[in-house]
Amino acid sequence: MEQLHIVGNERPLEGEIIVSGAKNAALPIMCASLLTRDCLHLTNVPMLRDVKTTCRLLQDMGAKVACDDVSCIDIDCSSVNQYRASYDLVKTMRASILVLGPMLAYFGETQVSLPGGCAIGSRPVDQHIKGLQAMGAEIDIQHGYIKARAKKLHGARIVMDMVTVTGTENLMMAATLADGETILENAAMEPEVIDLAECLMAMGAKITGLGTPRLVIQGVERLHGAEHAIIPDRIEAGTFLCALAMRGGKIILRHAAPKTMGAILDKLDEAGVLLEQGDDWILAEMRQRPKAVDIRTLPYPAFPTDMQAQFMAMNSIATGSSKMVETIFENRFMHVPELNRMGANIIAEGNTAVIHGVEQLSGAKVMATDLRASAGLVIAGLVANGITIVDRIYHLDRGYEHIEVKLNAVGAEIQRVRPD
Ligand code: UD1
Repeated sequence: MEQLHIVGNERPLEGEIIVSGAKNAALPIMCASLLTRDCLHLTNVPMLRDVKTTCRLLQDMGAKVACDDVSCIDIDCSSVNQYRASYDLVKTMRASILVLGPMLAYFGETQVSLPGGCAIGSRPVDQHIKGLQAMGAEIDIQHGYIKARAKKLHGARIVMDMVTVTGTENLMMAATLADGETILENAAMEPEVIDLAECLMAMGAKITGLGTPRLVIQGVERLHGAEHAIIPDRIEAGTFLCALAMRGGKIILRHAAPKTMGAILDKLDEAGVLLEQGDDWILAEMRQRPKAVDIRTLPYPAFPTDMQAQFMAMNSIATGSSKMVETIFENRFMHVPELNRMGANIIAEGNTAVIHGVEQLSGAKVMATDLRASAGLVIAGLVANGITIVDRIYHLDRGYEHIEVKLNAVGAEIQRVRPD
């Protein structure tokens, strides 16, 4: 299993990083290809492990997927003849649940393995199921699989009990081919949901209310092929900015989407990072130790749970103390003991962590248990005294494209190592 070996130091980061396409937009959009017999041509796709898993999932079902290994993918689902998403794939990537809505809407039946628990919490899919049932689907849970059938889905008004990103995406995709109008209330407003809606509209779907909690979808007879460029990854960009906040220096992020990063940029500004931005770039400069910032994770447009671990790493070396409250996932503080092993002073109880900033972290061998926790440990390693070894980096490879190459280009010293 590969590791990252990170040599920490105080040399400022300098240079330019190109931000990749957003994983959380690419995955649902790839699944949207199941809604048409035509080809979907996607650009700015990040070549990540989760993207490759989605390719395998679609290929398993009979789709033809052509990938140039840089950033373009063509998906042709005209030969899909397998309606089952197996446990083996779903267990490695929860986002596989995103085939449920499109498969049911297009083929009238599907079987998708229940995702089960994951490191950051139980993550049920009851809202996906409830919404599809409201649209006329018959759903049974048998032998660990969601078995769904519907001759033709019909429109419905669905009020979601909580804001769910993939839940909104699944129901929105299903509704594009349903009879009549579907109204999704309390819908997620994440930029990735909007990106999916824009791709669906390019395919002929009729959706209004984008970026609001009320999405209205008029079902159409069929969707057609389209070309779509995936939006930039706001979490990847935010991770690099946290690295800068910790190490100091000046970096420019290109191909970024600052307009999707309001809450993240506000907190960096509060921490003392000097920021300038244009439509697709962010220039960031830091010449002091960061100031501690309080954070409460919430659905978009508030502060994202996917940036919590990285800001905790930053707060752990900040001046002053901070309080971070995680309201989205019940078990998302697994990086706390690892950061404490590196010398941080963090006390976590329930969904709240209190962080007393220390002057210096010290390198240690640490283990990451989920994607964003891994990112937090990597950036902590950048400023820690000595060498930090981050184990189990397959989590990191699920969501960051060549993170060590990108950080090394601005002055980090990170090596990918495969121990014997
Ligand atoms: C998506 C993102 C993930 C991000 C998360 C929250 C993708 C592929 N992943 O995950 O990176 O951390 O949003 O922004 O886009 N819930 C239920 N029942 C449901 C659905 C959700 O109780 O049917 C709960 C979850 O347990 C969680 C909360 O709702 O507590 C939000 O989860 P959700 O937005 O669905 O997360 P994902 O879509 O899985």
